[in-house]
Amino acid sequence: MEKLFQVAIDGPAAAGKSTVAKITAKSLGYVYIDTGAMYRSLTYKALKEKVDLNDGDALKKLLDHTEIRLVQEYTGQKVYVDGENVTERIRYPEVSEHVSLVSSHEPVRKVMVDRQRQLAKSCNVVMDGRDIGTHVLPGAQVKVFLNASVEERAVRRYREEEKKGRHSDMDALRKAIALRDKKDMEREVSPLIKAEDAVVVDTTSLSVDEVVEKILTLVKEKQLS
Ligand code: DC
Repeated sequence: MEKLFQVAIDGPAAAGKSTVAKITAKSLGYVYIDTGAMYRSLTYKALKEKVDLNDGDALKKLLDHTEIRLVQEYTGQKVYVDGENVTERIRYPEVSEHVSLVSSHEPVRKVMVDRQRQLAKSCNVVMDGRDIGTHVLPGAQVKVFLNASVEERAVRRYREEEKKGRHSDMDALRKAIALRDKKDMEREVSPLIKAEDAVVVDTTSLSVDEVVEKILTLVKEKQLS
């Protein structure tokens, strides 16, 4: 059997990972796996069920009884938690504020990583997150570390929120992004770091198409080598 191809895209919050990963997956005909959406889904459910977000074992127990599905629909990728469409809700500020804490617990990460590896077992994937190249798929043929300045990332989030009809405070967005970077980089288990063999792409002054083009070139080069 031909070896499956894996593209790992990591980087900090709002660096453009999901937008770029989605388009890249579509052009390659690969499956896109948004691992952040999985941690967000658990955070959403834990908040709803009032589970203590500092208690890693309680969260792991909750996760064991939670079905998270990433479904490719005609209108884009949708996220279902126990059959409920939470695609929009998992992006709400309340979830964004707490997701770093939920994802910092080792028992939670262990289950999530198992599920993510399982998803990548039967098809070619583009997977995005924080620890994909370093931990989830260390054998990925292409690893990309996407970055952009905090300022630029805050502007992008602002525009995204605006498109959804929500007005946000730019200064608060900037602070929230910087704080999430800090938490993701300083946590003990699988912190956000660049894999040694990842290619760094700074997206601050690049368009989405330019970033996708760079990744597609890396994939082609790898496939030809
Ligand atoms: O990519 P995102 O903003 O949707 O991710 C939400 C949070 O989930 C992020 O703050 C860190 C965490 N996360 C993680 O720890 N590991 C991953 N592979 C993906 C996300």
